[in-house]
Amino acid sequence: MIPKDTIQSIIDAARIDEVVGDFVQLRKRGVNMLGLCPFHNEKTPSFTVSPGKGIYKCFGCGKAGNSVNFIMEHEKYSYPEALRYLANKYGIVIEEQEPSPEERQLDSDRESLFSLNSFAQKFYTQTLLETEEGKSIGLSYFMERGFREDIIAKFQLGFSPTAWDAFTKEALAKGFSEKYLNDSGLTISKDGKQYDRFRERVMFPIHNLTGKVIGFGGRILTSDKTKPKYVNSPESEIYNKSKSLYGIWLAKNAIVARDNCYLVEGYTDVISLHQSGIENVVASSGTSLTTEQIKLISKFTRNITILYDGDPAGIKASFRGIDMILEQGMNVRVVLFPDGEDPDSYARKHRSADVEAFIATQADDFINFKTRLLLQETNNDPIRKAALIHEIIESISLIPDAIVRPLYIRECSQIMDIAESTLMNELNKTLRKKKLKGAADEPEVAELPDARLAEPPKEQVLDIADCSAQEQDVIRVLLQYGDKILKFQHPGNEPEEIVIVEVGVAEYICNDLRANQITFDSPVFQSIFDAYALGVDQGQLPEENVFLMNADPDVANTSINIITQRYELSPGWEEIKIYVPTEADKLEETISGSVLSLMARKLTAMIHTNQLAMKDLPTDSEAWANHLSRDIHLKKARNEINKRLGRILNN
Ligand code: UTP
Ligand code: MN
Repeated sequence: MIPKDTIQSIIDAARIDEVVGDFVQLRKRGVNMLGLCPFHNEKTPSFTVSPGKGIYKCFGCGKAGNSVNFIMEHEKYSYPEALRYLANKYGIVIEEQEPSPEERQLDSDRESLFSLNSFAQKFYTQTLLETEEGKSIGLSYFMERGFREDIIAKFQLGFSPTAWDAFTKEALAKGFSEKYLNDSGLTISKDGKQYDRFRERVMFPIHNLTGKVIGFGGRILTSDKTKPKYVNSPESEIYNKSKSLYGIWLAKNAIVARDNCYLVEGYTDVISLHQSGIENVVASSGTSLTTEQIKLISKFTRNITILYDGDPAGIKASFRGIDMILEQGMNVRVVLFPDGEDPDSYARKHRSADVEAFIATQADDFINFKTRLLLQETNNDPIRKAALIHEIIESISLIPDAIVRPLYIRECSQIMDIAESTLMNELNKTLRKKKLKGAADEPEVAELPDARLAEPPKEQVLDIADCSAQEQDVIRVLLQYGDKILKFQHPGNEPEEIVIVEVGVAEYICNDLRANQITFDSPVFQSIFDAYALGVDQGQLPEENVFLMNADPDVANTSINIITQRYELSPGWEEIKIYVPTEADKLEETISGSVLSLMARKLTAMIHTNQLAMKDLPTDSEAWANHLSRDIHLKKARNEINKRLGRILNN
């Protein structure tokens, strides 16, 4: 654990131009610096660094952040890893916070499990390569399958002895405690006896991202149908199946380099593809694909190609996978191997170049893939064709990016020969259904709003409980104009007299919202707001950098996204002089508009909640009457606000 004030001093010390400068050549350009973006391919530089603000922004790919974000993104580090990197660069000593007894226990549990698993891997590998049994049963099996020695070593494959407690005995003799033998699942204790989970199986160690062994899969060597083909380690403090991907530690660099990740089903598929020189491959092995696994891949690429067996089970699994990947906003392609073949068997029968070529030519985007497969079944039956369209629209509706969806609609329209507008209607219907369903299930969506949602697309207006766009706009206005002064005209005491009242933007917004007891659904927005409110009370507004370089990464990311967004339309930050004044000129309208819109939205949400509560009450009950009077009250307030809003907008 890195203490919070150390985090802040690391962030404060890390100068963005120096941190980025280690990886990108920067030229001075006005108050900023400019270079070629390291996150996408470009020939003319659009990657801008602002030493003053401590942030970077690429106008080509839209990536933005502070020093910590840069290191995380560039080096694929976690947040604490990036902080340690920067601490090291700037010679800041991290005095680790004294961990609590529980944390210490957890830490030492994890360490013990890692070291036991590492010991087990070496034991199984040694058994495979150096014992008679291992060589004659295990190694000969791998050889028969065509696994090369270097590949066996690379994947640290092994063999578990036939004796029922060989490993457990050895581990106990080496001083490993019974507790961890049981916790890791390597040993099973029953009726006071201990025996090995893995016996007479070839062993596939499973590694985490950094290459530490966290579990095993053991494959049977006989065709005994009464026993499972694979026995796997149970979950433990260090092995979470839904968050692990087989092969990720060996694949991550290749995934980044090729900007694509191949997803297969089994251990042997990963290994065989490696042997064919294809290294950007991982397997979800043992579990069906999870969202967490997809998120792990998304650290390295936005593109996934599913390589599955062409049998009905494989097709079904690929359909599920497609939808989950789309839902994460990632691109998905699919390759089905001929029936009866999987990537492993295919790779064994064909030359490396042919495997690569097969994947390249067969990879279909999901629309093509689904259409092709399902069209075979429809036989031009119009009813079945309609069902197929629904299937595909359903998948498209999962894509979070409203700009991408119409592109797929167009493609679908061309393949299916159906008018784009018809498909678009279908899509909107599906989206609306989803929104309504979502609103009923979980009225408060605490999801952090994406900066791009500032202008909500039409169909999103339907989610009545969602105030995130309005909340974000108020925060944007605070960040952008918080320290400016507003001038309001008021009628004075004398007839015809006009008094000009001056008030600070932050003061106006904070006091107005507090007086109306408006709070933010998003905790991040709320904490930015609170910082301003405190500043108003103390007569000292927070500086922009407090947010951009905040020790809370959510606050930093959110404020960076909001702040850099206002430059989105301009090719360089200098252009700010042209873009901003239009809004700044009408500052009073901008601010009141933003605050009133939020209030109107909150009122709409309250009216909605109130009406929902009313729905199931008998109309002669007192509770119903109370809700009704609240309904009238709220609507009156909203009308009032809408009137004021209308005056501003028509000005
Ligand atoms: P497969 O049956 O396709 O295994 O299951 P495979 O890896 O291709 O093995 P070979 O080629 O027959 O030797 C795919 C994956 O599902 C998990 C394993 O992770 C396997 O790699 N699995 C399968 C189990 O966990 N348990 C089982 O009993 C079977
Ligand atoms: Mn197989």
